[in-house]
Amino acid sequence: MKVTVFGIGYVGLVQAAVLAEVGHDVACIDIDQNKVDALKQGIIPIYEPGLTPLVTANYEAKRLDFTTDAKAGIEHGDVVFIAVGTPPDEDGSADLQYVLKVAETIATHMTRRTVVINKSTVPVGTADKVKEQISTCLRDLQKDVAFSVVSNPEFLKEGAAVNDCMRPDRIILGTDCDYAEKRLRELYYPFNRNNDRVIKMDIRSAELTKYAANCMLATKISFMNEMANLAEYFGADIENVRKGIGSDPRIGYQFIYPGCGYGGSCFPKDVQALIRSATGIGYEASILKAVEDVNSRQKEKLFAYMMTHFAGDLQGKTIAVWGLSFKPNTDDMREASSRVLLENLWEQGAIVQAFDPEAMEEAQRIYGHREDLKLVGTKEAAIVGADALAICTEWQSFRAPDFTHLEATLAHKVVFDGRNLFEPEFVADYGLAYYGIGRGLSIKGRH
Ligand code: UDX
Repeated sequence: MKVTVFGIGYVGLVQAAVLAEVGHDVACIDIDQNKVDALKQGIIPIYEPGLTPLVTANYEAKRLDFTTDAKAGIEHGDVVFIAVGTPPDEDGSADLQYVLKVAETIATHMTRRTVVINKSTVPVGTADKVKEQISTCLRDLQKDVAFSVVSNPEFLKEGAAVNDCMRPDRIILGTDCDYAEKRLRELYYPFNRNNDRVIKMDIRSAELTKYAANCMLATKISFMNEMANLAEYFGADIENVRKGIGSDPRIGYQFIYPGCGYGGSCFPKDVQALIRSATGIGYEASILKAVEDVNSRQKEKLFAYMMTHFAGDLQGKTIAVWGLSFKPNTDDMREASSRVLLENLWEQGAIVQAFDPEAMEEAQRIYGHREDLKLVGTKEAAIVGADALAICTEWQSFRAPDFTHLEATLAHKVVFDGRNLFEPEFVADYGLAYYGIGRGLSIKGRH
């Protein structure tokens, strides 16, 4: 099938590469010439396991191409994906200007019946706006071309995006048009072989499904973080509580890990956007507001422990930080908890000595060169000359450190673990003070 993907960001590129891999003929359009040139040379702008070989192989096999020529790109596809960004504007609502601009471009260049697929995460009602935009443009241009707009949200996890896209657990098709449904079922047929992954519904429900999924997951995390905070005051251990409740299949073990807060490009943005949309229709989304509120406070947690431990005096202290990305297996630092910690530490005059397996360049790009940030090449180098260690991301390589060495190296012999990687009693055996999240036992006597 001939496919066009408009917007070669994270979602667009992964989707395009996976569709090409199963044999579709995919043209990707982006306005950024440098990005297009780089991709043609096999340089991928993001770190995502498995993506580089997939893009390179399909580009070489001529099933995947990149262009800035919107006319040629749109003429290519029977289906056209809109996968451009919807960044939050000042009040947290999703900014639709790029989506609507693409709709206009599609209307300008389409020459035959086209199915327009909204892949970007967009507020409920956006498909109607896209439809309206295309109809208006066609009218202005006095063109008579049939089209339909489908909502087909993505559910990719960073670090597992290729696999999520190759083996989706659901394919949401929001459409009121039989022709569009048929084309999309054909498009996704290769991903749908053993089980029917397609869930067909009306457009607005599909749009809301995406927000509901992310908001539900964010809610699970914030709920667990609230329980962790209570556990600290009650002298309970949230890790025991987690196992205790996760064993109930109605609750399950997934996404109930307490920690120093969720980050990334989706949860914070989507929770905020749904709160704004709700406000717009006169509904107060109380649960979502609480989810967001708990998360912002949770991001302050490690810093609060440090202030307690060092009696408010962090001036001139060197803090080793392991993990800068918002989660493992990505270099993405958008809304990462590490950023809140770093910025708080700097405000108190502390020096940060940080290591992350992938996000070092990103940290450099965000913060530039500054005296109080030392980015070092290994986790061992991060603790040299440090007073304390803080862990912000649960990279596998941080899970079994040499505690004897940590004890011998850290001047203040203390570990602040924002991801509950260790058993407090084991750490204590090595003579280290330990702060986990919600581990009443580990902070006994400190309140
Ligand atoms: C998320 C959704 O999982 C995905 O389906 C959607 O399409 C995009 O948003 P992603 O942002 O890549 O994906 O990350 P995810 O793995 O979901 O983690 C999000 C954040 O939650 C991370 O900061 C992670 O550390 C945190 N988290 C996750 C917890 O704090 N506790 C948990 O139990 C799980």
